[in-house]
Amino acid sequence: MAEFKLHPSILSADFSQLDRQIHEAETCGADGIHIDVMDGHFVPSITFGTPIIKAVKSLSRLPLDIHMMTTHPENQFSEFVAAGADSITVHYEACPTLIHTLVELGKFDVRKCVALNPRTPVEKIFDILHIVDRILIMSVEPGAGGQKFIPESLMKIQTLSKEIESQGLSIPIQVDGGINSDTTLEAVRSGASILVAGSAVFNDNFSVCDGISNLRNSLL
Ligand code: DX5
Ligand code: ZN
Repeated sequence: MAEFKLHPSILSADFSQLDRQIHEAETCGADGIHIDVMDGHFVPSITFGTPIIKAVKSLSRLPLDIHMMTTHPENQFSEFVAAGADSITVHYEACPTLIHTLVELGKFDVRKCVALNPRTPVEKIFDILHIVDRILIMSVEPGAGGQKFIPESLMKIQTLSKEIESQGLSIPIQVDGGINSDTTLEAVRSGASILVAGSAVFNDNFSVCDGISNLRNSLL
């Protein structure tokens, strides 16, 4: 099986025990922490911003992967980088002039990533692949944890993977939404190498370590 990384999304974490849950994720082999920033505009919900990024940075040495489900993401680049972001993902659908947004992001010492909603064709970003560090394929509608994986996402990952190769690039593909022990294998087989998982890791029914082990074991 190809190499993959696991980024638990704290969207489903128990915020009254964030310290303990992040520590557990790190101890049990998470490769990064995924932080979902929602603005109540690009998506209906509002989640968190700079104070939480800072807090998580102080709790963990893992890379912080900031997923911005926001319009005008450029307004927060400077703050988020100062707070400890290692990568920042902006949405194709939220950036009318994506190139300009990426140029802005390029002014900071942070990995530049672009996310695509389930209904956005991957072909839309073929012309910017050479200037990004990672692509995020949303396998649910953005805005909430605990949704069901959209199977058509697999074809998008495959098409993107082929295009990346044909352009002679090596950009990792991240997949986010509905990742659990039933969906990991197909996602990785299709070409995803970074899996984001919220409710499959942070869940009342089992420990964070068990959630991570279940995902890893499903790929053995
Ligand atoms: C959804 C977020 C995801 C979310 C995934 O908009 O981008 O990161 O936490 O949650 P699960 O893994 O439960 O689908
Ligand atoms: Zn996310």
